[in-house]
Amino acid sequence: MTDIDIRGDFPLLAQSVNGQPLVYLDNAATTQKPRSVLDAMRHYYEFDNANVHRAAHALAARATDAMESARAAVATFIGAPAPEQVIFTRGTTESVNLVASSLAQGLVPGDEILVTAMEHHSNFVPWFEACRRSGAVLQTAGVTATGEIDLRDFTARLSPRTRVVAFAHVSNALGTLNPVEEMLALVRQQAPAAKVLIDGAQAALHVPLDVRALDADFYAFSAHKMFGPTGMGVLYGRRDALEALPPYQFGGEMIEAVSLEAVTYNRLPYRFEAGTPNIAGAIGLGAAVDYLNTIPRDTLVRREASLVSDAMRALADMPGVRLVGTPKQRVGVVSFLVEGGHAHDVGTLLDQQGVAVRTGHHCTMPLMHALGVNGTVRASFSLYNDASDLERLLRAMHKTLTFL
Ligand code: ALA
Repeated sequence: MTDIDIRGDFPLLAQSVNGQPLVYLDNAATTQKPRSVLDAMRHYYEFDNANVHRAAHALAARATDAMESARAAVATFIGAPAPEQVIFTRGTTESVNLVASSLAQGLVPGDEILVTAMEHHSNFVPWFEACRRSGAVLQTAGVTATGEIDLRDFTARLSPRTRVVAFAHVSNALGTLNPVEEMLALVRQQAPAAKVLIDGAQAALHVPLDVRALDADFYAFSAHKMFGPTGMGVLYGRRDALEALPPYQFGGEMIEAVSLEAVTYNRLPYRFEAGTPNIAGAIGLGAAVDYLNTIPRDTLVRREASLVSDAMRALADMPGVRLVGTPKQRVGVVSFLVEGGHAHDVGTLLDQQGVAVRTGHHCTMPLMHALGVNGTVRASFSLYNDASDLERLLRAMHKTLTFL
């Protein structure tokens, strides 16, 4: 096991909560930020704050350079062929909404959209709404009792009528790593007209990404789940897929020319970035990517995976604890329930011992329904967690069980 310690780079982690050193295991909800990200955003506001792509002055040039450098860094990080295929959004939710509302304009009654029962609400409700508005039919592939997508059902629901397929790379509630390459191949065979969107919110930090090789039409993720700021995200798109998409929001930045009679729209990526963008957020995301490029990410991902396996084994051995979801491949997350204890009570008792986890339905009510539970306790790990965090979780769980 590696003894690499990056925790010192994250100032927030050096605090006590309820009289105990903080153990932060709610990383699937949001990750903490390294000092370099905080410094980059502060530097922008202290020295370079100006609007981008608009003015002739030095500050505007520096702000524009910083934002566009961040876009280039993100493009390289995910293997995008060109920076203009990286659209800055408010987060995964806005990225999905952008694609769903734009694609919905071309849907007609009888068309179909396929999602899975595993999706976060942010990759389910926009498609539900696109169907409601267009008359298209929403198909939902089921999940197995182990918390994996039922690939037979997924395949059976693909047809020449399928126009869009949207699924998560990694489940936020269970950590299931979905076989996205295989799923893409199934879509291309069975539903060649369909556009594919992958929700990568829970994958971007933990799974090496090469969007060009993956070749989905769209790939969405959020900065705040990969050490960057909240309110910032990315929609990556294949050039042909982005160019075929009508604009989503209208206003400044996204236009080429406006007269009283006609409006023409800007080129990529700006035609999807109406209004003043989240410049500091983009700079923060760029700094997060730069930070990830400086740490031994592969080694830390392996350490995280081994912490998750150890956590699963140890929790499963505790009397009255039941794991929810036992997928063959998982990333970062362990979900469980305690017999005789409500998930929220378990979360509160852990918090009193300085251990932060999330409890509830994790914005995946269809998944909870399919698994026959109302919610779970979710411990989610990141690259700065180590064996001492796991030990504290397990110690706190032993004590919690004595109260329930
Ligand atoms: N999607 C985030 C989570 O799973 C908020 O906690």
